[in-house]
Amino acid sequence: MKTPEEIKNIVRKKYSEIADKDQLLNAASCCGATDVSQEVYNIMTDDYSEVGGYNQDADLGLGCGLPTKFALIQKGDTVIDLGSGAGNDCFVARHETGEKGKVLGIDFTEKMIAKARQNAEKLNFNNVEFRQGDIEDMPVSDNMADVIVSNCVLNLVPDKEKVFKEIFRVLKDTGHFSISDIVLEGDLPEELKQDAEMYAGCVSGAIKKEEYLHFIKKAGFKNIKIQKQKPINIPKDILEKYLSVENIETFNKSMGIYSITVYGEKGGKKPKKNLADLTVKDVREKNSDYCEPGSGCC
Ligand SMILES: C[S@@+](CC[C@H](N)C(=O)[O-])C[C@H]1O[C@@H](n2cnc3c(N)ncnc32)[C@H](O)[C@@H]1O
Repeated sequence: MKTPEEIKNIVRKKYSEIADKDQLLNAASCCGATDVSQEVYNIMTDDYSEVGGYNQDADLGLGCGLPTKFALIQKGDTVIDLGSGAGNDCFVARHETGEKGKVLGIDFTEKMIAKARQNAEKLNFNNVEFRQGDIEDMPVSDNMADVIVSNCVLNLVPDKEKVFKEIFRVLKDTGHFSISDIVLEGDLPEELKQDAEMYAGCVSGAIKKEEYLHFIKKAGFKNIKIQKQKPINIPKDILEKYLSVENIETFNKSMGIYSITVYGEKGGKKPKKNLADLTVKDVREKNSDYCEPGSGCC
């Protein structure tokens, strides 16, 4: 059993290595590529290329949703991105919040912060900042953010409950979050649970969806909604590294791994943009992948 600090060191080391690779090498490490299909880092990623503010240099293919698309960001908002990587969601958020807003990315991997700062400099943005820090203990003051987003990060954090408490502290009373992350239904086999690569690849640090939603509620959030849910299929050749053929069959029958985008409000006050409008539009566009807990669709 690894300590939380040991886990964080593994995660930092892996994401330093990823930050060091250039774009092409990262793309080739995708599970679709035949020679290196043992890697799990970007089997979950959504296509960002059509999203306003998209910057290719900042997209290392490490996300598992499009939280900024669902985050109801207004012009002039202060937005924080937790585990900002090379800045992908920060630049999309900057597109929404405009020149008068402010975007802050927090990440604990020095090389990711350096890469994100480089990207911001190239874009000549003076209202996008990147700060190195641990999201279990955010380097920001209370009640300062209108919106918090995060893309595929909390699964990597040992104390997820603490992160949701921190999100509550940092949001303004009228603030809200939209977070994409990995959650589970069923129990992961021990072989996968104990593997560092599977942890850093956003699988084995994930917790059950029920527990995840419980932490959000316990932190004090209201109007909690699952804005999107999609199943994640781990390719067979990756599973073969850990499980026998028989156990792969059981795994496929009994386990659910999902990317969810979840939304919550600090004060239960609706943001100025109408959430209902956005979700109806999204249901039409996205073939009903919007659902609410308890509605029977997820
Ligand atoms: C899967 S990547 C996602 C990066 C980015 N959100 C994206 O979509 O491109 C996870 C990121 O979270 C960062 N991270 C993991 N645990 C963290 C923690 N406890 N505090 C701050 N950053 C963390 C890693 O350094 C890495 O950059």
